[in-house]
Amino acid sequence: MKLAGKVAIVTGTSPNIGGGIAEGLADEGATVVCVDVVADNAIRCADWITKRGGQALGIAGDVTDEGQVAAMVARVRDTYGRVDVLVNNAGILGGQSVLEMELERWNRQLAVNLTGTFLCTKHVARVMVERGTRGSIIVIVSTAGHQGQAGNIGYCTSKSGLLNFTRAAAMDLVRHGIRVNSLTPTATDVEEGLARAAGWGRARPEPRGRALDFQKMLPMDRLPSPRHYAKAAVFLASDDAEMITGLDLRVDAGALAKYWPWIPHA
Ligand SMILES: NC(=O)c1ccc[n+]([C@@H]2O[C@H](COP(=O)([O-])OP(=O)(O)OC[C@H]3O[C@@H](n4cnc5c(N)ncnc54)[C@H](O)[C@@H]3O)[C@@H](O)[C@H]2O)c1
Repeated sequence: MKLAGKVAIVTGTSPNIGGGIAEGLADEGATVVCVDVVADNAIRCADWITKRGGQALGIAGDVTDEGQVAAMVARVRDTYGRVDVLVNNAGILGGQSVLEMELERWNRQLAVNLTGTFLCTKHVARVMVERGTRGSIIVIVSTAGHQGQAGNIGYCTSKSGLLNFTRAAAMDLVRHGIRVNSLTPTATDVEEGLARAAGWGRARPEPRGRALDFQKMLPMDRLPSPRHYAKAAVFLASDDAEMITGLDLRVDAGALAKYWPWIPHA
């Protein structure tokens, strides 16, 4: 068990990536606090972990609201006495082009993706400093944060901002022994999230097609699943990564390493 005795907060615990990371941390012995603006995602994720024999607590909350973030972190500190790991995963995906993007939608996407990560990092890091915890903070980015994707201006901008947020926060916190790293997922296989949703008692939604053929363009011939991100998050959270800070760990099946015109599976 790589995370035995550690307390982790994961934001955005839908049955997809956040739920997968929460489950993966719990499987390595962490007590996991599942935080989501949709209360049912927070509660069901925690219940699922508990049913599988782990320790978890679900807290409903909006990461863009500083009062709610401060109260959530204080509750975790008061309940468990410490916070060792934060995974900033809550996010709003998708969007519009720069020509169409409405200001309200832009503001909300940047608020959740960027400001939410800032607020959670600020309040969790304060508790880590107060308690002398040599913690690990992980920021979930996206391959869209490394590249310009058409029709996704707010998402690309916010995810790119998180890459340098990670490096700057890593420098702010290094003297406290707190490590900050990002993890870059890419287009993700949906089967695992659907299976987890079914395990949570949810009906299977209608399958949705994808506009782009991701698999054809990916050097490895399959899309990653949340469990693959979870393994990388466990590594970054654990003492195995004790000398790693300010890094972006890409779990993208080779997507960003690829020479752009090459189509591996044409
Ligand atoms: N799905 C992908 O293919 C993919 C690829 C690369 C990166 N990512 C990143 O992974 C993360 C999770 O993606 P996902 O596919 O699981 O998305 P998802 O929509 O299933 O989950 C996002 C969760 O964040 C929660 N959330 C939204 N706003 C919130 C707020 N203000 N406060 C608290 N929680 C809030 C939502 O309720 C939801 O449960 C995101 O940061 C996303 O950008 C996803």
